[in-house]
Amino acid sequence: MTSKKNSERNLKLFNFPKDGKSSKNILSKGLFITFEGGEGSGKSTQCKRLVNKLVDEGINSILIHEPGNTALGEQVRKWVKSKSIQSPLAETYLFCAARAELCKSVIVPALNKGVTVIVDRFIHSTLAYQGYGKGVDLEIIKNLNKITTNELVPDLTILLDIDPNISNTRINKSINIELDSLEKSNKNKRENQEGNKYESMNNNFHNKVRNGYLEMANNNRSSWSIVGGHQSESRVADSIWKRVKRLIENYKVT
Ligand code: TMP
Repeated sequence: MTSKKNSERNLKLFNFPKDGKSSKNILSKGLFITFEGGEGSGKSTQCKRLVNKLVDEGINSILIHEPGNTALGEQVRKWVKSKSIQSPLAETYLFCAARAELCKSVIVPALNKGVTVIVDRFIHSTLAYQGYGKGVDLEIIKNLNKITTNELVPDLTILLDIDPNISNTRINKSINIELDSLEKSNKNKRENQEGNKYESMNNNFHNKVRNGYLEMANNNRSSWSIVGGHQSESRVADSIWKRVKRLIENYKVT
């Protein structure tokens, strides 16, 4: 039940227009923009910045995060973070199940109402992590992706590319800051620190994930944008906005 509450709360944050109307929506259709990248690439921060900027520009938008935003998605997130699943194929099915639910209950209804949807991770995460990273057959994942999304593809995918050596340093820094503040507030470190099993995997894995992303992006330059995640937060946000603005221009109602 908590998970359902969480998913509803997350959606409310971003002004999902229940009646499908808005006093100011300047686009003729809802755009579907996905963010991809390795651990510590700054994706989540950039997603938030982008959705806020879009709303400021008069574009009805929501931000969602995979896996999550549905009761099933929240459950899958817990399973995956619990580090108990051994089979990469089992993981693939779980991510796909969560995605099917998210498409049906959130993404497609929002797009049908003309709402722009920003997703922090989508189909390419499964290809990068379970496929390139863990060796699940890419064709199997591509087929599952098609079935689970009913062939919904993003208008634009933004890849925040970063060398795993740099992102590791970032992650370690933020863990240290988190631990410091936990110590100060006398909370139990283990209970409160959310474990991420991918963050603790070795650089060989993260390099495979990174190279997989780069291969997909370089094979589809028209629908992907590669942004250097090592740059400052505002520089990254500027590059993303430049690319998104070009996309928006094609759908502006004059
Ligand atoms: P995060 O996006 O909050 O970092 O956590 C989600 C983790 O799940 C991240 O390590 C990437 C991983 N993941 C996959 O391995 N495959 C997927 O299809 C998705 C959506 C996420």
